Amino acid sequence: MSEPMELAYEERGSGPALLFVHGFPLDRTMWIPQLAGLAKVRTCIAVDLRGHGLSVDEAPRDYSMDLFADDIAATLDSINVDQIDLCGLSMGGYVLFAFWRRHRARVRSLIFCDTKAEADSNEAKEGRDKAAAAVLADGLDNFYEGLGPKMVAPSTSAEVNAKIRAMFNNTAPEVAAADLKAMRDRPDATGDLGAIDVPALWLHGEDDQIMPMDAARTNADKIPGSRFVPIPNGGHMAPLENPDAANKAMIEFLKG
Ligand code: MLT
Repeated sequence: MSEPMELAYEERGSGPALLFVHGFPLDRTMWIPQLAGLAKVRTCIAVDLRGHGLSVDEAPRDYSMDLFADDIAATLDSINVDQIDLCGLSMGGYVLFAFWRRHRARVRSLIFCDTKAEADSNEAKEGRDKAAAAVLADGLDNFYEGLGPKMVAPSTSAEVNAKIRAMFNNTAPEVAAADLKAMRDRPDATGDLGAIDVPALWLHGEDDQIMPMDAARTNADKIPGSRFVPIPNGGHMAPLENPDAANKAMIEFLKG
């Protein structure tokens, strides 16, 4: 069993802490527009999950959403942060559900971005195994060729696409394979939605091809009192693709 580890992170701003969790197979740098835009309202902390970015893991194994959540709790302990606003995109959203299940007393609010609550179907689980074999055999740049274009809206700039590609290439194949197995085995979180009793915001790119928006809205509607905000000109990476709209929605939510 792997033990929780302290994560590398980037911090900006002041005030109550807001921690960002990136998606697969990315790193903290996807949140740079949010660190810049939200620094006036929160101490923004963008972590690298284990194995990603600067959170080096020489032997990636036994990854799970629970382990990622416990890593975040250990990191918060190390910087003396008790209560936290949490924001996670896609796989980062799966981590938020795990953190909610395991550390809910610490959660002040939840911001879900382009994620879902359902577990993988049997077909999706088989797809995870094939994807893990592909990244180990052919590397992340080849993997980007298949997945990368599906992660963005048609209007997304070449610059943003290049940033996403760079994050793929910054992730070791062994780490991406460990992520894929962890996502394959994550539990269904639909049963948790109705019991979330902290303020929740759900942002979703209108052009998300990986997780269609209408299904996400159905999930969001199950969270009592939650707010759902569609992000125009945004795909699966909506906060990076349209930071103005995403930051505005986050700031309104956090101030409210
Ligand atoms: C992500 O963006 O983190 C992934 O698309 C999540 C997934 O594959 O389920």
